[in-house]
Amino acid sequence: MSQQPTGGPSITQERRLVTEIPGPRSQELAARKAKAVASGVAVGLPVQIVAAGGGILVDADGNQLIDLGSGIAVTTVGNSAPRVVEAVTRQVAEFTHTCFMVTPYEGYVAVAEKLNELTPGTHEKRSALFNSGAEAVENAVKIARSATGKQSVVVFDHAYHGRTNLTMAMTAKNMPYKKGFGPFASEVYRAPLSYPFRDGGLDGAEAARKAIDVIEKQVGADNLAAIVIEPIQGEGGFIVPADGFLPALVSWCRENNVVFVADEVQTGFARTGELFACDHEGVVPDLIVTAKGIAGGLPLAAVTGRAELMDAAHAGGLGGTYGGNPLACAAALAVIETIEAEGLVDRARTIGKTMIERLSALKDADPRIGEVRGRGAMIAVELVKPGTDEPDADLTKRVAAAANAQGMVVLTCGTYGNVLRFLPPLSMPDHLLDEALDILTQVFREN
Ligand SMILES: Cc1ncc(COP(=O)(O)O)c(C=O)c1O
Repeated sequence: MSQQPTGGPSITQERRLVTEIPGPRSQELAARKAKAVASGVAVGLPVQIVAAGGGILVDADGNQLIDLGSGIAVTTVGNSAPRVVEAVTRQVAEFTHTCFMVTPYEGYVAVAEKLNELTPGTHEKRSALFNSGAEAVENAVKIARSATGKQSVVVFDHAYHGRTNLTMAMTAKNMPYKKGFGPFASEVYRAPLSYPFRDGGLDGAEAARKAIDVIEKQVGADNLAAIVIEPIQGEGGFIVPADGFLPALVSWCRENNVVFVADEVQTGFARTGELFACDHEGVVPDLIVTAKGIAGGLPLAAVTGRAELMDAAHAGGLGGTYGGNPLACAAALAVIETIEAEGLVDRARTIGKTMIERLSALKDADPRIGEVRGRGAMIAVELVKPGTDEPDADLTKRVAAAANAQGMVVLTCGTYGNVLRFLPPLSMPDHLLDEALDILTQVFREN
């Protein structure tokens, strides 16, 4: 049963604007940032956050903003969720680090056990823990290469896999992720994605045939270690592939000794109304990469997969100083407990139903909304010039800026910069979600 979550610290769950956004204190911090922080590290909305919980971010000027971003799909269980605070506080007082590769501790093993149990498939699994999504994606590729003795990797149009050298090569979009940062890692090939709004409505099987044709002609199964795909693309535009696309790719991988890797860094941990997005179609990946929502904001990532693949890398071949550090592991166990205790998978579905209903009504009244899509609490609208499918990035920027000015954190994404994406924490109460949708309706009317 879905229930209203208990939320985090005792912050009144109301939007409140007491200054312009950003207010004077936030502007002071922005001035300090400009002098102290590399300008390559850009900021979406320069408000100085001092507290957060439930569905609210509080800034240093006393404004309370509705959070529709969850720090890019990280604080799925809410900011400073009570169980996470309690578990991390206890752990920080006990010990903060030993390096699991030097002297191990229980939390790491317990997280691996939980991941092996909860990720799709009942086969024997192993997990390895890392710090960031990109690092885990890199390790999934290392594992697939080591297990198959092959080198090539196939990724998809619109993909985002991170900002390290290999994951930049795997990411599709040049600006801002890749421009000027090459040369990139080799043996990475790109296949067409199922993108129902933009591929003429190919069904999943047809779209998969097209992708497989490119893979067979341009790469060859004999060279191919892994296909890496986001089951719902995140930064690329919250693109939900047509039904059957993912299962067809999995079948082809099985027939061709190619490792199927699901990058669930953004979609994982209850976000989409299933524990993992693969679960919507019963897809069982060989390896699954998780991060973001796994640990409530502490840096943790994982690769989980078939024991025989995961065990292929030689002893000492996987790891890192901080991977699976004790604080992050304590947080992850508390996140998983929170998802189960508060029925957050159902909660994501309820949030998704409300958002799809309200945004679809908005689309019916506004021809600039080309499509409303997504699953659970991972929902987006793609904006176009009316009567066409021509992307409207300017409108997207205007709507996001107007929503920000009204005290709402809204993110954009998409290869064409024309997608507004909504990732509310699952701790957001109904009245705040309703208010956020009212504001969006008003902002579309005025822009
Ligand atoms: C699907 C996907 N993969 C990988 C990454 C990279 O994760 P991180 O930023 O933790 O390195 C992201 C981050 O947005 C992502 O959405």
